[in-house]
Amino acid sequence: MPIGVFDSGFGGLTVLGALRERFPEQDFIYFGDTANAPYGERSAQEVVDLTIAGCRYLFGRGCGLVILACNTSSAIALRPMQEYFVPADRRVLGVLVPMIEAIAGRPYRGDKRAEAAAQNVLFFATPGTVKSGAFERELALRVSGPRVISVACGGLVSALEGGDKAAAERIVERAVAEALEAAPEPEMAVLGCTHYPLMEAAFRRALPEGVNVLSQGVLVAARLAEYLERFPQFASCGGALELVTSGDVAVVREEAARLFGVALPFKAM
Ligand code: DGL
Repeated sequence: MPIGVFDSGFGGLTVLGALRERFPEQDFIYFGDTANAPYGERSAQEVVDLTIAGCRYLFGRGCGLVILACNTSSAIALRPMQEYFVPADRRVLGVLVPMIEAIAGRPYRGDKRAEAAAQNVLFFATPGTVKSGAFERELALRVSGPRVISVACGGLVSALEGGDKAAAERIVERAVAEALEAAPEPEMAVLGCTHYPLMEAAFRRALPEGVNVLSQGVLVAARLAEYLERFPQFASCGGALELVTSGDVAVVREEAARLFGVALPFKAM
């Protein structure tokens, strides 16, 4: 069974890259809903409907487990999907919980909340993710202690996809300045959007020295390793990769190559 990786577009390739590095023998199907991206500034209902449609496609392609690489989908759609949509023999995992478990310093199994190693955590994400409050909610369930300062980086995804590096840097600087005004001495920063690792250097420049910037791809891969140990039925071997888009294949190939610097053989769904 291939593992499905769902994203609103091609930003989720940052997560897929880390997964492929950790699991070179696993089969993956990546589906980017580029025709409907970006999700970060859509209504909650739209995000839920589109994420369900994307997962339905991946289930239809034989995936038993789907990872929502998109933070906006993970924040807004994951809980309702797990309650009302995911069939009993399939699984959907998001990308926020691995970040939260990194803050907790251990996986959560419904037990006592962990003491956080950090007092002030900065959380940067799309407007939709920040508005959902999901990160704070899921964190509070698992960890006691840290204060979360969430800042929406509106326009950052579009600036990056449009190739406007200067605008992207300005948005990062503004967002970090806003966060530091609320918490001048943070210990951790979470880049809660698929695209933000592409701006990690700018975030690090703007943040005070010594802030631990959590790396989502690596954390998601580590969580998946642990998950597959418990549920080996969702693993496969072969190392095949399919990249599928709902958008215009030529445009997606060109934009993804510009953003990631390599040719990516996307095909139509
Ligand atoms: N994939 C989205 C996320 O991680 C960013 C792009 C979008 O807004 O669709 O939140």
